[in-house]
Formats: sequence, structure tokens, C-alpha cells
Amino acid sequence: MKFFIDTANLDQIKEAASLGVLDGVTTNPSLMAKEGIKGEAAVLAHYVAICNLVDGPVSAEVLSTDFEGMVREGEALAKLHKNIVVKIPMIKDGIKAIKYFTDKGIKTNCTLVFSAGQALLAAKAGATMVSPFIGRIDDSNWDGVQLIEQIVQIYENYGFGTEILAASIRSGLHIVQCAEAGADIATCPLSSIEALFKHPLTDIGLAKFLEDSKKMA
Ligand code: G3P
Repeated sequence: MKFFIDTANLDQIKEAASLGVLDGVTTNPSLMAKEGIKGEAAVLAHYVAICNLVDGPVSAEVLSTDFEGMVREGEALAKLHKNIVVKIPMIKDGIKAIKYFTDKGIKTNCTLVFSAGQALLAAKAGATMVSPFIGRIDDSNWDGVQLIEQIVQIYENYGFGTEILAASIRSGLHIVQCAEAGADIATCPLSSIEALFKHPLTDIGLAKFLEDSKKMA
């Protein structure tokens, strides 16, 4: 299972990369705005800065909602760096744009996916990755992990190559549940990755080992 970090914060990306388990980055307009990135030139420069921190896929989202606009933006984003993946919303023109980019060999991440039918469309259009938002599904009293299980089953049935990127992760438990369900990638806040380290018995066990090691001196 690949670990991506879901942020546009350069310090958090550096911190996650320093752990040695980071495979890529996803961003979205909300995350970029949170970092105070404003204006086209600054946005593009920020994507390049992220690409320079992590040797893996970096999802950069288009802002247009029409086919021509998505193609124009996506082509400009793809030219920024070899690791850019063009992130495209799950709407009709988005699916058309994904097919266009698939035919041109440009990698895509189909975002804002909340149902198995949407994931099926994304795979048929040849999306490199599909992003089901499991936390937001849980927030609306449905089962986000169950959607991952459904998509895994459907992609297995037909041998689709689209990678399932579990997004909107809220906890370490979500990461583990997505791993059990067979998601290819989890994109997570740094806090959820760090939650995987934690177990009270590890802390108690280490304290005891260190205490006993004094007897070895
Ligand atoms: O980047 C897409 C997704 O991970 C957003 O997560 O926490 O805003 O639901 P969240």
C-alpha cells in the first residue's frame, strides 16, 4: 500500500518524507488556499516546490469545470514536472477530459468520488487513480470503507488498472481499514500517518527495556 500525504504544507511534506515511507502527495484547492497560495504563478511554483520534495506522484487539481478549460489547465500542469498527476473532478466533462489525457499518456486522478458507479466511470475513462472520499462519506452517516471494498471488487472483476486512492482519511484506523479492503493508496493528513506509530504497550515496553538496560552498564 502506498502512502501519500494530503496537504500543500511544505513543512508537513518534508516531515512525512523524512519518515522514509512517503510515496506521493495530493493537494486540492482548499489545501492550497489554506497555505495562502494566491495567483496562477504562485500556484504553479508551489506545485514545483512540492515535486522537488517528494519523488512520487503529486496531484494538482484543475479549477475549470468545462472540457476545454480542464484540458488547457491540465496540459499546463503536466508540463510543470514529470511527477504531476492532473486531478479532475467527477463530472461529465471531467470524464471526457480524463479520457483525453489517458489517450495522451498524461496521468490523472479522478476526485470527488462518492459512489461505485462514479469509480466505474473513472476506470472506464482510464483514470490513473480514483479518489473515493471516505471520511466525508462517514460524515454523512454512510460507510466510506465499504465503498472502498465495493470498488476493489469491481476493479478486480474486470481487471481495471486504475489505482484506488482512499482519500478524506480521518485516522490511523481508516488507513488500516483501507489496507484491509485492498486500497492501493491512502492519502492522509500527517496526523493519521503518525497515529500508526502509537501503541501504549510500545511506550511501556520501551521504557522497561531502557530501565533494564541500566543493569547492563
Ligand atoms: O484531497 C481530497 C480529500 O482527501 C479531502 O479530505 O478531509 O477535506 O474531506 P477532507
